[in-house]
Amino acid sequence: METFSAPPYRIKMVEAIKQTTRKEREEYLRKAYNNLFLLPSEAVYIDLLTDSGTGAMSDAQWGALMQGDEAYAGSRSFYRLRDVVHKITGYHYFIPVHQGRGAEHVVLPLLAKRPGMYFISNMHFDTTRAHVELAGAHAIDCVIPECRDIHTYHPFKGNMDTAACEENILSKKPENIAGIIMTMTNNSAGGQPVSLENLRSVSALAKKYRIPLLIDGARYAENACFIKQREAACHSMAIPEIAREMFDHADIFLMSAKKDGLVNIGGFIAIREDEALFRAAQVRTVPYEGFPTYGGLAGRDMEALAVGLEEGLEEPFLVHRLDQVRYLCTSLRDAGIPVQYPAGGHAVFVDCKEICPHIPFDRFPGQAVCNEVYLEAGVRTVEVGSLLLGRDPETRENLQSPFEWMRLSIPRRTYTYAHLDIVARAVCSVYERRHALKGLVFEYESPVLRHFTARMNYE
Ligand code: F0G
Repeated sequence: METFSAPPYRIKMVEAIKQTTRKEREEYLRKAYNNLFLLPSEAVYIDLLTDSGTGAMSDAQWGALMQGDEAYAGSRSFYRLRDVVHKITGYHYFIPVHQGRGAEHVVLPLLAKRPGMYFISNMHFDTTRAHVELAGAHAIDCVIPECRDIHTYHPFKGNMDTAACEENILSKKPENIAGIIMTMTNNSAGGQPVSLENLRSVSALAKKYRIPLLIDGARYAENACFIKQREAACHSMAIPEIAREMFDHADIFLMSAKKDGLVNIGGFIAIREDEALFRAAQVRTVPYEGFPTYGGLAGRDMEALAVGLEEGLEEPFLVHRLDQVRYLCTSLRDAGIPVQYPAGGHAVFVDCKEICPHIPFDRFPGQAVCNEVYLEAGVRTVEVGSLLLGRDPETRENLQSPFEWMRLSIPRRTYTYAHLDIVARAVCSVYERRHALKGLVFEYESPVLRHFTARMNYE
């Protein structure tokens, strides 16, 4: 019998959420053109669209907000945050930015020095891939093949296939590789962690071929907790010690602080020792993000983040966090629903291709299931599949994603096991009538990032 930990916090403030009737939800969905991104949030009872910026801050963070120093230059809050990041990473240089993609926008073009270079990653997150391509480079994913077999257990499905990585370095030539990016945890394949052992091997490759190693570490603390739980050599290490060793293996840390920073907005760049890169990044930060001691954040945002980063590494919090996701994953799996197994750190990924084999990829089985789960219980999830992937830029054909996921992302410190029971029941009843689900066609499709604004009809 699996066990799940109780929350290491109690509730001090609540936010009302409203249950709606099925009839009301049908009307809401119709008005949203069958696209859950177009719903007003009051139409949603339990919102699992994303774990990004949707978590609850602690009393200590709300208290810290009042201490924000809003000076344009040299804010006290900047120095406080810089010192916390230094303590966690050991890196010398720090620049705040408004969120993760701001960090990508500042740094990636500086590494892609010539057009046509490559970034190799276990798996690029969408915005990272977009910034790689905007910088005139190509994105190559080399995650281990076990990651694609959802039913078989592997403790570190986020690992890089190091042989494939080295083959790519050699075939594209080391001087053409702009950087190696380890996404930790690997969001796109189910919030799956990377082992310290794997990171060590990737770091050895990066050093051998003199390629900068970046950690896209939006969920680095969750990754460190998985390492503690699953990597034999690390069971007795403290989480911050594991995190420090992760950073010891890399050169640059790009952080979307909206996840493991436990804040609603924010991000940063940390650089180990490359002063020239730091200077160049500061120069790019000014026009795109803001003066380098605020980078698009208010002083109070930096205060809340300084506290959130430390809370985000606390073991009781992390254990419960991972347990909540595992709880939902186990409930669904026990009911026979195909999910990425084992559970990831921030979300449960349901394989809708397997649930709805009768809906072709270009009729978006993931979206069909997501919409039905909303109608069932007011639970908003997100499609991560062919709808999100879009079209081939040249042929304009729909691209087929290897997975048609419904992602159920769990915001941090926000919902209880009771909420997750409602979610599980909703997914199970949709699963029971899966054969009746219908695919969707576009009424309106924007040329880029179509999933955000698409208007869709049932076939
Ligand atoms: N890297 C990873 C691994 C991410 O998951 C995200 C965002 C980013 C970078 C970009 O950060 O949103 O602060 O600009 N992921 C969100 C999600 C959007 O829903 O998974 P951002």
